[in-house]
Amino acid sequence: MAEPIIIDGTQISADIRAEVADEVSRMKEEHGLVPGLAVVLVGEDPASQIYVNNKERACVEVGLNSFKYVLPAKTSQEELMDLVDELNCRDDVHGILVQMPLPGHLDPTPVLLGIDPNKDVDGFNPVNLGRVVVGNAVLPSCTPAGCIELLKRSGTQLEGANAVVVGRSNTVGKPVALLLLSENCTVTIAHSRTRDLPEICRGADILVAAVGRDRMIKADWVKEGVTVIDVGMNRSEEGLHGDVDFHEVKEKARAITPVPGGVGPMTIAMLMRNTLKAAQMKLPV
Ligand code: GUN
Repeated sequence: MAEPIIIDGTQISADIRAEVADEVSRMKEEHGLVPGLAVVLVGEDPASQIYVNNKERACVEVGLNSFKYVLPAKTSQEELMDLVDELNCRDDVHGILVQMPLPGHLDPTPVLLGIDPNKDVDGFNPVNLGRVVVGNAVLPSCTPAGCIELLKRSGTQLEGANAVVVGRSNTVGKPVALLLLSENCTVTIAHSRTRDLPEICRGADILVAAVGRDRMIKADWVKEGVTVIDVGMNRSEEGLHGDVDFHEVKEKARAITPVPGGVGPMTIAMLMRNTLKAAQMKLPV
């Protein structure tokens, strides 16, 4: 086998953010409009604080306005909904993201339903999931959209390919499967109850792993020439690993994402792109 392509998510993410930055400056010049992203964090979860700070920094780098709201952990459902309503009404806020998970006493469902679908840059509102279902992915969720970009920018043939998605979550498995279908792949969604999972995976030209099981997918689960997108982020005392046994599987792959440095960096790039798209939707036609 030829050396596999190691799909460089860090580089592709930087490329996309540079493209967004160009579009943002054009929008400023031509329309006097600066896209704005509001990020809401409830409580003091340290991991969430890091994610939110990274999002704020990415906004600054591409020239977006960033509005950060940090609410105390004891914030009530009503107070959070009131803030979402206020942000829905603001003309300078084009994208709204409420960082998950919320503290236990808050119900995320009404919050996600309450975000204006045209400002829902996370793509978590069921309206945006429904748009993905009907093939009109205006604001697709960021990690699934990032997987598709990695495939396209690594020269993967999508049309007619057999794509197997392992995992059926609402945040990754289901939407990535539907986006692959929109790209004319033949899609199988496999999961923990799938009978003979290795045999199903061996049928894949494109394998997307999003199950959250450390290095579950082995070399004898894939065919020669497969393209592998590994969404897994499994931390153990041995370090951070994906759902795919990278060192084994890369020997048979045409192309494969590493962990870290594959899908991870794409989520923020797609968030920037969705915020730009949400602002473009406000431009006069
Ligand atoms: N928590 C972890 N990842 C995400 C994300 O992509 N969006 C939101 N809103 N919360 C998260």
